[in-house]
Amino acid sequence: MITDPALAPDGERKIDWASTWMPVMNRVRDRLKEEGVMRGRRVAVILPVEPKTAYLAATLADAGAEVAVSFPGVMVHDDVAAGLAARGVEVFARRGSTHEEELGFFEEVLARRPEVVIDDRADVIRLAHTTHPEVLETLLGASEETTTGVLTLRAMEADGTLKVPCIAANDARCKYLFDNRYGSGQSTVQAVLDNTNLLLAGRRLVVAGYGWVGKGVARRARGMGARVIVSEVDPFAALEAYHDGYDVMPIEEACEVADVVMTATGVRRALPLSAIERLKDGALLANTGAVDDEFDVAELRERALETRIVRPNVEEFKLEEGRSIFVIGAGVVVNLSAGEGHPVEIMDLTFSVQALSARHLLLNAAEMSPGVHALPDEIDEAIARDKLDTLGLRIDRLTDEQQAFLKAWEAFA
Ligand SMILES: NC(=O)c1ccc[n+]([C@@H]2O[C@H](COP(=O)([O-])OP(=O)(O)OC[C@H]3O[C@@H](n4cnc5c(N)ncnc54)[C@H](O)[C@@H]3O)[C@@H](O)[C@H]2O)c1
Repeated sequence: MITDPALAPDGERKIDWASTWMPVMNRVRDRLKEEGVMRGRRVAVILPVEPKTAYLAATLADAGAEVAVSFPGVMVHDDVAAGLAARGVEVFARRGSTHEEELGFFEEVLARRPEVVIDDRADVIRLAHTTHPEVLETLLGASEETTTGVLTLRAMEADGTLKVPCIAANDARCKYLFDNRYGSGQSTVQAVLDNTNLLLAGRRLVVAGYGWVGKGVARRARGMGARVIVSEVDPFAALEAYHDGYDVMPIEEACEVADVVMTATGVRRALPLSAIERLKDGALLANTGAVDDEFDVAELRERALETRIVRPNVEEFKLEEGRSIFVIGAGVVVNLSAGEGHPVEIMDLTFSVQALSARHLLLNAAEMSPGVHALPDEIDEAIARDKLDTLGLRIDRLTDEQQAFLKAWEAFA
């Protein structure tokens, strides 16, 4: 179910462009095709429908899997959806879909009885464990894309609900060190600037949350000349931000001086309405966390005297006569809802992690207990080594003597 199959040529060109810059994924593709592990296996891909994700889905299909893709419409590129469908992948996604339609799309995917789900925010795994338990009979396992989804799976594991093994793809070093930090960092700042055509240099930019994503956003914003302030709830993260050279203060205080506020926390109302009310005229708001109401746009809408769309992806909220604030990307993950997502090279790593997680589940799920599992270190490390190799970078190795030294705990001096 896609918007318009005639858009396929544009979508295919975009997928091809992405694949040009994903050399590690190309190696994974060749390996999967040669091994035949994917042949005839049913895989669901629940990720934003954009060129890099499409290349992941197309790679699995190319290697012989029956692939079904779906995602909520705010993060769907219709041309890419069409291009993917033209490559033999079943796509249930269209830009602007309603919540009911999206639920229906997820149900269509579950009706294909996937053996492996590559999930985002644990949305489909949750459905499988609540309203569609029959799917669990044939589901071998899942691989989770993002920090927030991994937290959900851990909560399910803690209360004994999780019935299948799930790989925390987000927690692989090849994922969070690069995707969350450099990928979100660049693409979040880029989405806000592209959609507003404004200058960052000299502006005060507040980052709520100094985890991997927040660190990336802060670093990129500073690199473009912004004066960055961090708000945190975790004392270690706050200290880190301080020693990285940022101002640190509570969100309510930060909002009094902010020109731009970006949330990157994974929790609801990290930017509460009381803080938004302190913002000055013209302030910009964007969320890059996976939780849609890191600031509550519906609540803000009720509070506003008037709202209007002033540019594509930019909505003005008039709080009182003479004071407006602007929300980019409707408060939903801004780099995906109002941008093209992460840079391609970053997703080369992320989707190599995902493809090899799916492979690992297909081969090993029967021996894995229900619960959250790490991607085995050797797979993670092999991806990093492949990436270095494709970049033409060489590194040193520990000598035998150094390895022996590291193990010789009893030696003194
Ligand atoms: N935009 C993207 O493309 C993208 C990519 C990766 C992850 N994410 C999402 O971004 C969010 C953050 O991911 P991460 O990997 O940085 O997580 P993380 O756990 O490394 O960091 C989150 C940080 O937010 C802080 N925090 C929590 N509540 C807060 C509050 N009320 N005020 C201020 N700080 C608060 C935490 O202390 C923590 O330091 C998650 O929802 C994740 O799923 C988005």
